[in-house]
Amino acid sequence: MIYSRLMGTGSYLPERQVTNEMLAQTVDTSDEWIRSRTGIAQRHIRDSSQSTSDLAYEAAQRALESAQLSADDIDLIVVATTTPDMAFPSTACLLQAKLGIRSGAPAFDIQAVCTGFLYALSVADQFIRAGTVRHALVVGAETFTDLLDWQDRNTCVLFGDGAGAVVLSAADQPGLLTTRLHADGHYAHLLAAPGKFVQGQAQGSPVVHMDGGAVFKFAVKVLDQVCREVLEEQHLSASAVDCFVPHQANIRIIDATAHKMGISLDRVVRTVSQQGNTSAASVPLALDHALRHQLLQPGQLALLAAVGGGFTWGAALLRV
Ligand code: COA
Repeated sequence: MIYSRLMGTGSYLPERQVTNEMLAQTVDTSDEWIRSRTGIAQRHIRDSSQSTSDLAYEAAQRALESAQLSADDIDLIVVATTTPDMAFPSTACLLQAKLGIRSGAPAFDIQAVCTGFLYALSVADQFIRAGTVRHALVVGAETFTDLLDWQDRNTCVLFGDGAGAVVLSAADQPGLLTTRLHADGHYAHLLAAPGKFVQGQAQGSPVVHMDGGAVFKFAVKVLDQVCREVLEEQHLSASAVDCFVPHQANIRIIDATAHKMGISLDRVVRTVSQQGNTSAASVPLALDHALRHQLLQPGQLALLAAVGGGFTWGAALLRV
């Protein structure tokens, strides 16, 4: 049998940090409101010269370094993003060029908003287990703040930019034990950036529109459900999880999910206060944080989970 194993992780956050106090100078909000409702204290915002593939490149370089591989070893690139550099080519192709890979290895993007990294991980895992790929670079990268209306306090305080990357490689022992993905497009209207291109012109609103309360309730419900699905499939209980790595959208969603699962907060990665919601980048950023800060140690079991626009949601069990 061939399995996927995690060989390395890397992440990148743009230098510019924007605190709640800074936002409160331009929109009717306060540090107290944002912290108490979301747990967010600050977020990182890209430099005007940076695109999503630039952020992805920095994270990918760090993941390759930690995997002790060179870019030429990579034979698949999957980038999860909602904020590609351009309509096409894909951000994955642009990243491939920036990494200097000339082997002709396949590269493509995946769009599942905040669940994108789980989708990308699952797709890369299928390639590896099918025996067609040895080393896959899986990236979640976003310049999500480009999708925000900075006058809309309901949304602009929630998000940030960043990128996280992992290298998955073929192995004879399981690392990635299972992944489970879901979607239900009937909820598309609750969280969307509905703009599109028509006859060469941008049409419709390009910024994020959200029913925050409905998203909150749905998120807590399905995160708990999908985490239970992957644990049951592997005949494990929540007590077997050494480190819970949830999507970083809101500290109250994270804590409520951990509470429902019976996972104590000392086993939960919580980076949302420093980064806000970085969409597809959030889970790989949190995973890299957990490994670099020894919240997750070699041999231990991580439970990854995310939910996002679509709605989409998913989970993975990973022995690192
Ligand atoms: N500052 C101050 N007030 C704000 C605000 C802000 N940044 N954003 C919204 N408000 C106001 C609203 O206008 C509303 O005012 P009103 O009652 O006068 O109409 C009020 O706060 C809503 O408050 P409340 O119902 O207590 O908010 P909440 O506890 O539901 O928190 C969210 C709102 C958006 C933080 C919360 O619903 C949430 O996090 N939802 C999930 C969003 C998410 O994670 N999306 C991405 C998923 S991948």
